[in-house]
Amino acid sequence: MNIAIVGTGYVGLVSGTCFADTGAIVTCVDTNAEKIQRLQNNDIPIYEPGLVELVQKNVKAGRLKFTTDLASIVNEQEIIFTAVGTPPDEDGSADLTYVLQVAKTIGQSINKYVVVVTKSTVPVGTAKKVKDTIQRELDKRGAKVQFDVASNPEFLKEGNAIKDFMSPDRVVIGVESERAKEILSRLYKPFLINNFRVIFMDIPSAEMTKYAANSMLATRISFMNDMANLCELVHADINMVRQGIGSDTRIGRKFLYAGCGYGGSCFPKDVKALIKTADDNGYSMEVLKAVEHVNERQKTVLFKKLEKAYGSEGLKGKTIALWGLAFKPETDDMRESTALVIIKLLKDAGCTIRAYDPVAMNECKRRVGDAVVYCHDMYDTIDQADALLLLTEWKEFRLPNWNVIARAMRRPLVIDGRNIFDAKELGEAGIEYHCIGQ
Ligand code: UDX
Repeated sequence: MNIAIVGTGYVGLVSGTCFADTGAIVTCVDTNAEKIQRLQNNDIPIYEPGLVELVQKNVKAGRLKFTTDLASIVNEQEIIFTAVGTPPDEDGSADLTYVLQVAKTIGQSINKYVVVVTKSTVPVGTAKKVKDTIQRELDKRGAKVQFDVASNPEFLKEGNAIKDFMSPDRVVIGVESERAKEILSRLYKPFLINNFRVIFMDIPSAEMTKYAANSMLATRISFMNDMANLCELVHADINMVRQGIGSDTRIGRKFLYAGCGYGGSCFPKDVKALIKTADDNGYSMEVLKAVEHVNERQKTVLFKKLEKAYGSEGLKGKTIALWGLAFKPETDDMRESTALVIIKLLKDAGCTIRAYDPVAMNECKRRVGDAVVYCHDMYDTIDQADALLLLTEWKEFRLPNWNVIARAMRRPLVIDGRNIFDAKELGEAGIEYHCIGQ
C-alpha cells in the first residue's frame, strides 16, 4: 500500500514512520526543503525516543522516503494524510491555511481515486472544506476524478509517540463512503494484533472527538490544580485526595496530577479552538473558559510562592535555578511551556536565571536567547542560588543529592512544580520545601 503523509512534525513523522514499519510504502512530504534534506540525511529534526532508529530502519528497507514535491507523487498514492500544522489565529481559531493549501495541490494534480485523510486537529467542518477545495481545483481543469475525504485524528503523546501510535487505546476514523472505510481498515489492519479498536463514525463526530478528548484531559488537570490550591488553604494534601478519588473506576487514576500548569502544542490550542467554535455557533463553553483561566493562573503559582518566601526583601538581584524547560519530560518542545512564563516573571523581577534541561536547552536559546544562563548540568544551576524551581519532572531530577545542594545554595529553598520530591528528605537536609497542593 502506498501512502503519503504531508507535514513532518511530530504527528506526521511519527505516523509515517510507524505506517512504514507495518509494511506500507510511505512518502513524507514537507514544503520546508531544509527539513526534508535533513531527514534524507538521517538527521531527525525533533527529539522523540526511538524515532531515529525507526526512521533509519525503514529508510534502509526502502519503505520510507522524503520529498518536498507533493504534486509529483500524489498519483502513486492510495491514501494521502495531511498532518500539517493548524496554529491558532489571534482569535484562537485553528488556522487552516496549510491544510487547504495541501488540498489545493491535491486537486490540481490527481488523476485517479485517492482518499484524503486529515490527521491534523481541525475544527468540525474542515473535511467539507477540504473536499470543496479539491473539487474546485478539479472543476477548474475539467477533470472528472473520484476521491474521498476522511478524518483520522491522532491521539499520540509527545515523548511516548511511537508506543502510543503502535498500540493506541483506539483509532477514530470519520468516513462518508464504504470505499474509504475499506481502504482505511486495510491500512490499520496490522495494528489489530495489538487488540485495539477502530471506531468508524461520521466525519464531524471524528473531528469533534479529538477536541473533546483533549479538552476533557485539560479539564481534569485544571480541576486538580484548582483543588490543589484549595488543599493548601485548608491543610489537605492533593496527593492523598488524588489517590482517594482516582481509585473510583469512574474517575480513574490517570491525568490527575496537580502541577504548575499544562503546556504543549495541543491542550492550550485545542481548548482555545473549541471555545472559539462554540462562540462562532452562538454558544459559550463556560467550563472550558474556566479551564483556560485556571491554567494561565497556575503557570504563575511557583513565582508567587517564591515571592512569598522572600516577602518584603523582594526578588531583585536574586539568582534562581530552574530544572526543566520543556513542557513535559522526554521532549525538547517548549510550546506553551510554564518555563516561558516563569522566565519572563523572573526576568521582570530582576532575577538572574540559571537553567538546565536534558534536551530543551537549544530550544530555550532559540526562544529567549541570553535571558537565561545555560548550565551544563543540574548541579551547575544551584551554585549560590537563592531558590531552585522544578518545572519539568525529568527522571534524572528525581533523586538528587540534597546535602550537596543544600551546601551549594545561598538559601536552600526548593519549590517543586511537579510534586516529585520527598518533603521529609529535603527537611532532613535542611532545605525549605514548597510544592503544589500540600
Ligand atoms: C496531549 C494528549 O495527551 C494527546 O492525546 C494529544 O494527541 C496531544 O495532546 P501531549 O501534549 O503530548 O499530548 O502531552 P501530555 O502528556 O498529554 O501532557 C500535556 C500537559 O499536561 C503537560 O504539560 C503535562 O505536564 C500536563 N499534565 C499532564 C499535568 O499537569 N498533569 C497530568 O496529570 C497530566
